[in-house]
Amino acid sequence: MHHRLALMQRSLLQFKPENRFKTYPLRKTMTQALKGKLALVTGASRGIGAAIAARLARDGASVIVHYASSAERAQAVVNEIRDAGGEAEAVGADLSKPEGVRSLVDSLSGAFGGRFEGRLDILVNNAGTVEYGPFLDSSDSSYDTHFNLNVRAPIELAKDAAARMVAAGWGRIINVGSAFGEAAPLPGVTLYIASKFALRGFTRGLSRELGKYGVTVNAVQPGPIDTELAPQPGTEDHATMVKLASVGRFGKPAEIAAAVAYLASPEAGYTTGESLTVDGGWIA
Ligand SMILES: NC(=O)c1ccc[n+]([C@@H]2O[C@H](COP(=O)([O-])OP(=O)(O)OC[C@H]3O[C@@H](n4cnc5c(N)ncnc54)[C@H](OP(=O)(O)O)[C@@H]3O)[C@@H](O)[C@H]2O)c1
Repeated sequence: MHHRLALMQRSLLQFKPENRFKTYPLRKTMTQALKGKLALVTGASRGIGAAIAARLARDGASVIVHYASSAERAQAVVNEIRDAGGEAEAVGADLSKPEGVRSLVDSLSGAFGGRFEGRLDILVNNAGTVEYGPFLDSSDSSYDTHFNLNVRAPIELAKDAAARMVAAGWGRIINVGSAFGEAAPLPGVTLYIASKFALRGFTRGLSRELGKYGVTVNAVQPGPIDTELAPQPGTEDHATMVKLASVGRFGKPAEIAAAVAYLASPEAGYTTGESLTVDGGWIA
């Protein structure tokens, strides 16, 4: 008894707060939890997707940085990841068209020189779009614009990814929805709201089917985040949105990436069918 007490006292005396993260196993869990995993992040050339790609790479994943037309911006994201010691490569595809989805799927087996042999461990369906304005003034193509990219593409990519993940016995599908997939705090985005509610429903339904195979399916639902998609500072819409947020500001892409990183991690294996709203209290 005396001996054990003496040992405890000694280790307490030796403990220095500044060293608390320095033990190797802890550092490994915190920074490289996704080592050896292949992740695909759609719409990763800018905004939220770029932050997610960088964050998953920081956590050790090899990341496919998908883009539609911004090849140079996607390459800049890839370069930034490589400069920081991570692994990434860029792939372009227009996901508003079924042939674009097919070409992205076809590229997976050859990713990183074919090292992953057709496996895909993490799919982040992030690419999305919005058209602002009253529903009564919306164009005839507005339904297709919202639903092809925000709903059909994530569903088709998830179908292909799920088959790969079930075969491997492990996987993470993460859909980037929106706080507008949970509530309708503002007018002027009706079809966007409809598309994000659909994505939330898909997330829940699919989670029921894949859980038993070690594959989780979740959504992250951002509130207003500082990107090119959202209303810009200085506009009335921006000011209205800031007023609605409990924290009194727009969020940063990295704050969404942190939520995605949790859902992608091995530790999140008991979280599925969840839609995690990260919105500064916007719809609280
Ligand atoms: N920003 C917000 O306030 C906010 C709030 C809630 C939810 N979200 C959701 O978060 C996700 C990302 O939004 P963001 O703000 O980061 O958007 P963003 O800055 O506009 O970036 C959009 C990304 O999607 C890609 N993309 C656009 N059209 C595409 C197409 N036809 N096919 C394939 N990819 C396409 C873009 O690629 P290119 O660069 O090549 O065009 C870009 O990488 C979306 O699903 C959005 O609905 C955003």
